[in-house]
Amino acid sequence: MDYSVFSAKIGRKLTNEILISDPSDSELSAGGTQTVIIGSFGTGKSTMMATFAEYSDSTNESKLPLMHARMTNDHERLKELRVYPTTVVYRVRDSDIWPVLIPGNWKERYPESFRVPKDLVLFVNEQDAAGVLFYTVNKAHEPIPIPYMPEVCTYSDALDLVTKLRVGWINAILEPQEYYLSDNLIDYIRVIRSEDRPTDINKPLVPSGKRPVGRPRQKKEPRDYSNVAVKPAVFWFDFISAVRTGFHGKPIQCIFDEADDFISSTSSDTHWWLVYDFAEKYRDLRKNNISTVVSTHSWDMLFYAIPKRASYKIMLPGTVATPKFTMIRKTDIFSQLPSGHYMIEKSFKEFGIDRFSRIPKPIMGKIEGLRGDFKGLTNQKFKEIKKIYESGDNVHPSTYLQKNLPEVIEI
Ligand SMILES: Nc1ncnc2c1ncn2[C@@H]1O[C@H](COP(=O)(O)OP(=O)(O)OP(=O)(O)O)[C@@H](O)[C@H]1O
Ligand SMILES: [Mg+2]
Repeated sequence: MDYSVFSAKIGRKLTNEILISDPSDSELSAGGTQTVIIGSFGTGKSTMMATFAEYSDSTNESKLPLMHARMTNDHERLKELRVYPTTVVYRVRDSDIWPVLIPGNWKERYPESFRVPKDLVLFVNEQDAAGVLFYTVNKAHEPIPIPYMPEVCTYSDALDLVTKLRVGWINAILEPQEYYLSDNLIDYIRVIRSEDRPTDINKPLVPSGKRPVGRPRQKKEPRDYSNVAVKPAVFWFDFISAVRTGFHGKPIQCIFDEADDFISSTSSDTHWWLVYDFAEKYRDLRKNNISTVVSTHSWDMLFYAIPKRASYKIMLPGTVATPKFTMIRKTDIFSQLPSGHYMIEKSFKEFGIDRFSRIPKPIMGKIEGLRGDFKGLTNQKFKEIKKIYESGDNVHPSTYLQKNLPEVIEI
């Protein structure tokens, strides 16, 4: 396929629109953007999302001059423009490349870059802090500490976390491993299911004079949701609503890899209502300057309204040219894309092609102590790595290894 017929200029422009946030209230500005990335296994979704975390910036004026400077690589102009790193929320998962985003690691990979890497803080729920351990593996597949392991902070709930978010940093967040519906979500479910409406047992359901078809409604005790354990990823619904109220409209980029964990198309019962509510509020996130980038393997893994309402779509091999979601009509256009290229489309209006590069020497972040997971570390290894982190001398595993080599006995 001849990909030169697709506009690389539009592709780059749309990518920059995702990466740059501007305030939603000035005339030319757009606020936050909502993006869906579709691609089958191993097509580079996680790589692209990590890159987006590092490169998202914000400006207090319209994004147009900044976009222009970025697209023309005008470094002089870039220095003049007032640009701030956008606060990033990055959902941390097991076997995820988040450790490359730690500034020490990023700098080692891109020593020439004129950008200062964003700082990174790692958040874990206070209930999980003792049992969870982050590590990686070396070439021999032995567990080792994560190079330049950052500070691990704890949060009690979504509201608490929002107050602790570091502005302009990458906030890498592990969702709580056990999650119950919050009062906020319970209230919402009661309202939408009309469980809060008083039911009158004596009143027929149909207008008087006609025979009621159904049984009169029995007065039911409202269901007790407080003990309903839900998928841990439901936490993100609480989190987004906490950001809407608690982050005061500051630009924020939320990166949710494998987002079908919580905005899935096949949710049942309680979870379905939460997804429905999220989809209702999804487009309005723009006005709160909240941007989201969610990724998954195919359109139908996500709740229908999410890809339908997303303003930007990034399509990698494995995407099907479903007319409901994209204006591109041929699936071949996606499946034959050369490695590292993607199609990007804005709201059924325009599309183009763009490229991204692989991150050199990706670091696979593993997590021990996740709920329902097999043990990856022996107790001894767990303690050993934890001790290294606590000692504070974990700058890089190589320094740690050097320190721990047996002293040379000179003969
Ligand atoms: N632009 C690129 N060019 C060439 N190789 C790449 C590029 N981006 C990523 N890769 C390589 O492809 C592999 C898969 O990348 P990545 O994990 O980002 O894909 P993914 O779509 O998230 O995969 P999964 O579906 O398993 O989550 C990695 O080995 C990565 O180094
Ligand atoms: Mg991935």
